[in-house]
Amino acid sequence: MTTLDKVVGGAPTRIEGRDKVTGAARYAYEHPVPDAAYVSPVQSTIVRGRVRAVDGSAALAMPGVIAVLDSGNVSRLRRVEDAELAVLQSADVAYRGQIVAAVVANTLEGACEAASAVRVDYEEEGAGEGEHDVVLNPGDPRIFSPEKASAGFAGTVDWGDAESALAAAAVSVDAVYTTPTEHASPMEPHATIAFWEGETLTLYNSDQAPWMSATAIAELFGLPESAVSVIADHVGGGFGSKAVPRPPTVLAALAARAVRRPVKVAATRQQMFALVSYRTPTVQRVRLGAERDGKLTAVWHDALQQSSKLVEYTEPTVGASRMMYATPNSHTAHRLLRLDMPTPSWMRAPGEAPGMFALESAMDELAYALEMDPVQLRIANEPSVDPESGLPFSSRNLVACLREGAARFGWAGRDPTPGVREDGRWLAGTGVASSTYPVFTRASTATAYAGPTGRFVVQIAAVDIGTGARTALTQVAADELGVPMDRVTVRVGRSVFGPAPFAGGSMGTSSWSWAVSKACRALVKKLDERSGLVPPEGLEARADTTEDLAAWKRFSRHSFGAQFAEVRVNVDSGQVRVERLLGVFAGGRIVNARTARSQFLGGMTMGVSMALHEALETDPRFGDFVNHDLAGYHIAANADVRGIEAHWIDEQDDELNPVGAKGIGEVGIVGTAAAIANAVFHATGFRQRDLPITLDRVRAAVRGG
Ligand code: MOS
Repeated sequence: MTTLDKVVGGAPTRIEGRDKVTGAARYAYEHPVPDAAYVSPVQSTIVRGRVRAVDGSAALAMPGVIAVLDSGNVSRLRRVEDAELAVLQSADVAYRGQIVAAVVANTLEGACEAASAVRVDYEEEGAGEGEHDVVLNPGDPRIFSPEKASAGFAGTVDWGDAESALAAAAVSVDAVYTTPTEHASPMEPHATIAFWEGETLTLYNSDQAPWMSATAIAELFGLPESAVSVIADHVGGGFGSKAVPRPPTVLAALAARAVRRPVKVAATRQQMFALVSYRTPTVQRVRLGAERDGKLTAVWHDALQQSSKLVEYTEPTVGASRMMYATPNSHTAHRLLRLDMPTPSWMRAPGEAPGMFALESAMDELAYALEMDPVQLRIANEPSVDPESGLPFSSRNLVACLREGAARFGWAGRDPTPGVREDGRWLAGTGVASSTYPVFTRASTATAYAGPTGRFVVQIAAVDIGTGARTALTQVAADELGVPMDRVTVRVGRSVFGPAPFAGGSMGTSSWSWAVSKACRALVKKLDERSGLVPPEGLEARADTTEDLAAWKRFSRHSFGAQFAEVRVNVDSGQVRVERLLGVFAGGRIVNARTARSQFLGGMTMGVSMALHEALETDPRFGDFVNHDLAGYHIAANADVRGIEAHWIDEQDDELNPVGAKGIGEVGIVGTAAAIANAVFHATGFRQRDLPITLDRVRAAVRGG
């Protein structure tokens, strides 16, 4: 072993970059599978009720049609917690767009055409011609307080006496903020190729979690874990929507079994809106109480959200309000209403993204009420320990991010007066907000091999969903093995490599790199014992971090950031342009500067999108999303992103994992929308508490209609 410069912390280009730009990289749908048939789902046109009969005769008479599937002729599945996965298991309809039948045909076009010829007879319940039960109405008497929110968060947490503190506060803020339904819509749609060989199932799946998905599908089909193999060599984004199996994947496995042939399923962009989850809308009330010097005396945050009738999913929207700022009194609660809608689920920074829009907007409102600089207000409320748990932070560099961001952005000397910076028909303003995301880490396994010719192979059921995970893990392995990157092949994307968590919750690098580093260290030890001599059959070391994580010291672990926005608002059209967006982040050790920068910029761009564009509209008469395609569901495009910069501070945190990485996938979207909304207030003097900040909303405020 030679001594080499470490590559962790460098900026190598993506290992699979060339394969991607030349088209050699295969995504799920592109694997050559002989004799594959195509599946097209038939989606419910009613909101609630039952399927009385499926008439597939016209479809079956069409050329190349192999089968029409419905709840009467597919395999029975085991009941699992996620009722969305009970595809075609009963005649019940729980939302418009649910899969009620499917056509299998020799061609994609044939399957699509035949799907439109399937006649479904329904017994509709409820609204009929009136309004469906699909609207999150804050006055609904059925709203309840869930015990738990997702990702391990409690439903409601109280300490001190927030009500009394608010009543006694020298200065206070009390405002309602809303965020709309949003959709992840990754560039690569949800796609699966499924084939059975006897009782074993192989899935080429667009997936954030090859091993976890294989386990979940095995459970669903009542098979041993080893009977299901998920392969996800390349994935074109997920943002949470591919973190667990979704109905199209289950449909593929069912259809392949029914017709005894490999099948391909690719959800269309329109189908994805009902079938692969979405971000819940929220109605959030935030009340802050403070002393005249800006010290918070109370944080009160309530988030109303929706779920489906099938699954109780609670987005952890108020989670960040529990650890963000020091306060002796706190009340943070989730409330939920279950509707005849598809089940919402994780979408980038689930909880923190909408929750921090509300908290960080309220902090800006408080800064104005106090006549205090908003950066200073945040610094004044920096806690010494986690306010909720009382645990020390493994590292907390919010203040450093705020200070460095302020310096880079040119915040000093900012005149806080709103609505006074005119430039023709434009008003200019600046805003700031904090970012945060928890450091989740889960146990993982990995295997490292040394070959007789000096090459190394590491296998781990990680997955690269576009983040650069393959490259980052190769850097980690190369450093541990003490060899250049080109002598190491890191194989990811296959469930057969053993237990590993998902590319979700920003936990990929922190979890997988731990197992990779441990396996490589064990291999180096074995090699050292043999004076570096590799036997002809090679050497292997396997690692499992379950015990390391069980022994993890108790700390509060979070990434932080600060985002600064400069906007211009057109007083005639109401258009908001984000001229500059600057973020400074603290995410532990940055493994790859190039791919990390992309992660931050991607998150921030999604934040611009959340602030100004994204909203799914639900029509209560129709009972479904109206704008369920990318023509009607607007996302930020290149022209919407002007000046954008991501920086990070060198953060050394020894209480994380061998690499010292925190996780950076999601922190970039958190706080962005608040920074922009705060800048819009500074520009116009009108507070925007409802996302997205559309032209009509701005015009209504600035021009009074
Ligand atoms: Mo992320 S929303 O946990 O994939």
